[in-house]
Amino acid sequence: MEPIIRIENVSYTYEGGEQDQVEALLDVNVRVDAGVFVAVIGHNGSGKSTLAKHMNAILLPTRGDVYVLGMNTRDRSMLWNIRQTVGMVFQNPDNQIVATTVEEDVAFGPENLGVPPHEIRRRVDEALTLVDMRGYEQAGPHQLSGGQKQRVAIAGVIAMRPKCIVLDEPTAMLDPVGRQEVLRTVRRLASEEGITVVHITHFMSEAVMADRVIVMDDGRIALDGGPREVFSSPDALRRLQLDVPQVTELAFELSRRGVKMPRTPLTVKELAEDVDALLSGRYAR
Ligand SMILES: Nc1ncnc2c1ncn2[C@@H]1O[C@H](COP(=O)(O)OP(=O)(O)O)[C@@H](O)[C@H]1O
Ligand SMILES: [Mg+2]
Repeated sequence: MEPIIRIENVSYTYEGGEQDQVEALLDVNVRVDAGVFVAVIGHNGSGKSTLAKHMNAILLPTRGDVYVLGMNTRDRSMLWNIRQTVGMVFQNPDNQIVATTVEEDVAFGPENLGVPPHEIRRRVDEALTLVDMRGYEQAGPHQLSGGQKQRVAIAGVIAMRPKCIVLDEPTAMLDPVGRQEVLRTVRRLASEEGITVVHITHFMSEAVMADRVIVMDDGRIALDGGPREVFSSPDALRRLQLDVPQVTELAFELSRRGVKMPRTPLTVKELAEDVDALLSGRYAR
């Protein structure tokens, strides 16, 4: 089956003057299959945002090609189709609400797609329900918290019925409560709505929730696999200037001290289960 996103041999250079060309992507190959929740991590400047912007034709490759459901992003006649298939949410919640009320903002995308008014009403209601923002229809952006603004931005994308949503560090500027709200929404999109999610983040605790973790380093893909696989190599991650999740770190320290850990735990719950199993094995007799 054609993947949602197929990135083939893509390099991208930002053109400054002669001296300040930046090669932000170097021969990158990635396929994102339908229905998968992918996290992208990597140190600052590793190329995550540049990669994201290739996924819905905000940037076109300097070399190589990007296909969205088989549509080449260079094909200008497909631009609307591509943008409707892959929606994008950015880091700064304040730059994303374009209308004066929540309702108008969420309706903006479908209106541009020529969706009839009664259908727009239905989509706005659905999208706001999905992001837990029903009741805020008439609120203005200034009345909302950062987390609420991000959820409205997500609703605006969802109302266009995309197959895939790319979120570029949507939680980076939020307080812990806002982060949790947005994360809950992102997980719901992936698990209940069957939307393909590409979630760029610098929080390892968010990456562990994904089905697949792609690690970027200086414009290249350094690691790509399931979260347990990727977080099982703490030394490799540290070389890539990344942390391992705290629970994973703790498990490594325990095994370094001779405790036989059965797996690489990714969450507090998993670590607790493992420790519990170890203790009952040791003391239950
Ligand atoms: N508009 C731009 N002009 C020139 N260089 C840029 C621009 N945007 C990003 N870069 C450079 O490209 C590289 C990759 O940046 P980016 O994709 O934003 O990385 P990340 O999102 O992982 O922090 C960095 O070296 C960055 O400085
Ligand atoms: Mg970025």
